[in-house]
Amino acid sequence: MPKKRILSGMRPTGKLHIGHYVGALENWVKLQDEYESFHLIADYHVLTTSLDTNDVYQNSIDMLIDWLACGLDPVKSPMFRQSKIKQHAELNLIFSMLITVNRLERNPTLKDQIRDLNIEHVIYGHLGYPVLQTADILLYKGDAVPVGDDQVPHIEISREIARRFNNQYGNVFPEPEALLTKFSRLSGLDGNAKMSKSLNNTILLSDEVEIVKSKLKKAVTDPNKVRKGDPGNPDICLVFSYHKKFNPDEIDEIEKGCRSGELGCFDCKMNCASKISKFLAPIIDKRKYYESRIDEVKDILHDGELRGRKVAEQTMNEVHEKMKLG
Ligand code: TRP
Repeated sequence: MPKKRILSGMRPTGKLHIGHYVGALENWVKLQDEYESFHLIADYHVLTTSLDTNDVYQNSIDMLIDWLACGLDPVKSPMFRQSKIKQHAELNLIFSMLITVNRLERNPTLKDQIRDLNIEHVIYGHLGYPVLQTADILLYKGDAVPVGDDQVPHIEISREIARRFNNQYGNVFPEPEALLTKFSRLSGLDGNAKMSKSLNNTILLSDEVEIVKSKLKKAVTDPNKVRKGDPGNPDICLVFSYHKKFNPDEIDEIEKGCRSGELGCFDCKMNCASKISKFLAPIIDKRKYYESRIDEVKDILHDGELRGRKVAEQTMNEVHEKMKLG
């Protein structure tokens, strides 16, 4: 049995944070042995919410370095940019005929973005976001897509498009499945449910020890625990949620100390910072390796783009054949 295929992707927004690791990368790294993996840098998708492309290239390189630093293996799995494999645009065009405007308007992820970003007039490409995403996945015949729950509606659209194509022209595409990332997302340092660059509440994978410490100092905790001695409630404490992920061995002790009041927030935060830094240390080392060898990083990208393009060309040949385009 050949391995099943995964297509995983992210929009390049720059250096990644620990929320990306917990919500996606950790899972991608685990899955790369079990599946044949393809990793996409969705640089065209950036345009759906920002037309400023000045930082897109640098952000793509920064993101790629973080991927490598976290243990994605470029020998096993090609990594490539959407904009450098033209077939993404071509398949997007064909797929855009296989779904209605009405269906796309019902996409809850789009509705959330319109609300969160205060978008007054939706551009055509933004409405078509999941169509391009479908082309990303199906160009490589992805059987599975590791995603967070916000992306599930997109994968549902991908399944519908795959079905529609197969019924109309003959079987070419798998109906991709969403592989949900188990660990729920990490909250931001300000207590916001989402850690996000635009909210400025992140710990970057590239943050050095001192930075992690100073960021944690400002992290919100149980507001009723003002000073050491006050009993706290770890269930509503952000720092406790980080301990759960990065310091599982001490979790019982910390919970007890917090509830009794014996453990003060400052000590608890510094302990947490040191555990996070311990986790980040090998990532930062590997990051430095690649940062000082940018040519190697570019070679990895070019090699990934060659390998990705080969598969994309094959798929498009099949598509043209089935569509009898000659
Ligand atoms: N929409 C994804 C996100 O915002 C990024 C993405 C683009 C993607 N194309 C993809 C994810 C293909 C998985 C597969 O996170």
